[in-house]
Amino acid sequence: MRYEMADRLQRLPPYLFARMEEMVAEKKAQGLDMIDFGIGDPDVPTPGPIIKAVQDAVADPSTHTYPSSSGERGTRVVIADYYKQRFGIDLDPDKEVTVLIGSKEGIANICRAFVNPGEKVISPDPAYPVYANGAATLTDAITVRVPLHEKDGFLMRVEDIPKDAKMLYLNYPNNPTGAVADIEYLKRVMDQCRDNGIIFCYDNAYSEMCFDDYLAPSALEAGMDCIEFGSVSKTFNMTGYRMAYAVGNRDLVAGLRKCKSQIDSGTPKFIQRAAMRALSQFDGPRLPKMVRDNIDIYQGRRDVMVAGLRRLDLNPPMPKATFYIWLNIGGDSMAFAEKMLDAGIVVTPGIGFGDMGEGYVRMALTQSVERIEEALTRMVDIL
Ligand SMILES: Cc1ncc(COP(=O)(O)O)c(C=O)c1O
Repeated sequence: MRYEMADRLQRLPPYLFARMEEMVAEKKAQGLDMIDFGIGDPDVPTPGPIIKAVQDAVADPSTHTYPSSSGERGTRVVIADYYKQRFGIDLDPDKEVTVLIGSKEGIANICRAFVNPGEKVISPDPAYPVYANGAATLTDAITVRVPLHEKDGFLMRVEDIPKDAKMLYLNYPNNPTGAVADIEYLKRVMDQCRDNGIIFCYDNAYSEMCFDDYLAPSALEAGMDCIEFGSVSKTFNMTGYRMAYAVGNRDLVAGLRKCKSQIDSGTPKFIQRAAMRALSQFDGPRLPKMVRDNIDIYQGRRDVMVAGLRRLDLNPPMPKATFYIWLNIGGDSMAFAEKMLDAGIVVTPGIGFGDMGEGYVRMALTQSVERIEEALTRMVDIL
């Protein structure tokens, strides 16, 4: 018996990242020492106090039962308080906050909750692939890809936002380009969405991964006509815990909760306790020490990587946020990635993020300074 996948699954594009993984595995099998800048997954462990919180919580049997799909109230209160401390925004933990099993599922489920088959969903190009695939395609919606241009600082042109779309995804600090947006820009986007009845979904997964004196804003600072996705994944090296949140307009939060309540039973309570320990670190707009110490590691790596690439006459911008270097290589991104693989260096071809990603590769700062230096030495030989 053979089983055919549903049309919507067949419409998903071939996953280039899976192909890359196979190629990396082949090289490893050949005994090559691989330095992996491919996946945006922190190599640094979760801070000790958070590990301790989850250990304590898991020893408490009251955390062993089904959680609520929308999150325990205590967790939602801590998330609301984090928004108050960090962004000065008041949120009702009962109506304007929901817990997610990682922001990825929330980003996909918000589309299922609000977009009908055949309606248009806007994804930036290049972008995190979930907007077009997990969200739009699996909702039988139509993805409209709006280009981000380097000369605009990779900000989507507000006048390019199609007025007949149902939903817009936007993400700053941006994966893969490292670009950032200010509140004035977010206000213009929100006005455009409000004027045209477009649901504005703001992916703020890298809100705390900010370098030097830069601090990313929340879209809610521009107004409440949006839903924002945030996550402890990158901020606290907690990608494996699966814990995030959505906040904002109460109709959007209610729809997302309704959809999720039929699909999942929420993030385990002991994981929520770990997130409470993490987010309660914030006692003002500045990054707390636990986060600062973590971000300083990536900042040090960023400085070494960017300086090294510049010595090689590759001239990446110095990202103000995210742990990604978006390198304009001016040619075939897959061919460049394969050439790097031969030297034992894994980078992500830009084409994997959309057609506009062609000509670029992404390097994630998930290796130590020593390994970055080693990679730069190898690059001198091959470039
Ligand atoms: C732009 C962006 N949004 C969302 C996510 C998902 O994060 P999580 O599901 O771990 O919260 C990622 C992960 O890489 C990302 O790059």
